[in-house]
Amino acid sequence: MLSLVAFDALVAWFRQVRTAYFFRQERTPYRVWVAEVVLQQTRVEAALAPLARFLAAFPDVESLAHASEEEVLCAFRGLGYYGRARHLHRAAQIVCAKHGGRLPETYAELCRLPSIGQYTAAAIGSISFGLREPVVDGNVKRILARTELWDALPSSAAFTRQAYARLRPLFVEMTHAAGEVNEALMELGQKVCVKSHPRCHECPLAIWCRAHNQRQVEHYPRVKVKVSKIPVVWHIYILRDSQSRVLLQRWQNFYFLKGHLALPSLLEFPTSGRTLASWQSTSESPSITELGEIAEELASVRHTITYHSICIRPYVGRAKESAVLPEGMFWQPMEIVAELLVASALNKVWQKFCQYLLL
Ligand code: ADE
Repeated sequence: MLSLVAFDALVAWFRQVRTAYFFRQERTPYRVWVAEVVLQQTRVEAALAPLARFLAAFPDVESLAHASEEEVLCAFRGLGYYGRARHLHRAAQIVCAKHGGRLPETYAELCRLPSIGQYTAAAIGSISFGLREPVVDGNVKRILARTELWDALPSSAAFTRQAYARLRPLFVEMTHAAGEVNEALMELGQKVCVKSHPRCHECPLAIWCRAHNQRQVEHYPRVKVKVSKIPVVWHIYILRDSQSRVLLQRWQNFYFLKGHLALPSLLEFPTSGRTLASWQSTSESPSITELGEIAEELASVRHTITYHSICIRPYVGRAKESAVLPEGMFWQPMEIVAELLVASALNKVWQKFCQYLLL
C-alpha cells in the first residue's frame, strides 16, 4: 500500500533515474502547460520533436494568442487531434485577455480554461505552482491497482474516486514537492510499472506493493472480460384470429424470458444448427403451421443481451381457429398486448407490428 515512506523511496529513485527531457528545463508555467496538454495523449518519445517545434514557434503565451489558427494548426502537426491545438490557442487568448498573460494559479481556475481538464490542471498546478494535487492518469491508475490490489476496473468512476481519495491525503501530508511526486509516478508507470512484464525487481515501491507481495502483479489492473456472444435467430410469430385476438404464450421453461408473457417463437442457433420452439414441450405439440398460416415477414430487428447477439425475424399471420392450443398458450385482445409484452425485444417487435398495421 502506498504511504509517506513509500513516497520517500519513490522520490529517491526518481532523482537517480529521471530522464532529462528538454521540457523539464527552463520551465515556465506556459511551457509546462503546453507540454502537459501535448503529453496527455501522446507517448513522450513521440511527442518530443513536435513539442520542441511548437514551443520554438510559440515561446510564450502572447505569441500563441496572437498567432492565426492556421499557424497554430501547422505548428501542431505530428501531435494528432487538432481539437487540442484549437483549445490551446483559445485558452492562450483567454489568458491574455482575462488573466494579464499569466496562467491562473488555482486548480479551479485552471480547470475552467479550454484544453485543461482535471488531469492537466493537476499536472500544471503541481509542477508550476506547487499545488498539492495528484495526477490520476492511466499510469498512476495502473500503479495504484497493483500497490493497493484494487479490483475495480481502472476505467470506472469508482476507481478514479478511490484513486483521489487515496492520494489526496498523502499529498497533503508529504514533505515532497507535489510536482516531483507526480512526475515520479508518471515515470514509474512509463518505465517500470508497465502494462505487461513489469520490472518489479527495479521498482522502488515493490516492498509496499500488495500485488507484488502476493505474486499477483500480472493479474492487476483488472481488465474487462469480453464475453463472446452466442448468435441466435429468433423467429417470432404474431398470429391473429377473426376477432383480432393475438396468440400469446407464458414461457415457463423456455430458453429466454422464463416466466414472461411472450409470442410464440422459434429459436435457431446457427453455430450448432439446433432449433427450439416455444410451443414444442412434447413431441405431440403442433408445428407453427398447425397453429397458423404465415402471411408476411416484417423487417428483422437486431437485439443484443448479455450473452446473446440476436437477429429477430417477426412474422405476421392468421391463426387457425380450430387448432388445439398447447399448454400455456392463450388468446388476448390486440389492444392490451402492448401492456403485456414487457420484455424489450418483444416490445420492439410489437411496435414494428403496430407500424405495419398503419401502413
Ligand atoms: N507525461 C505527462 N506529463 C509528463 C511529465 N511531466 N513527465 C513525464 N511524462 C509525462
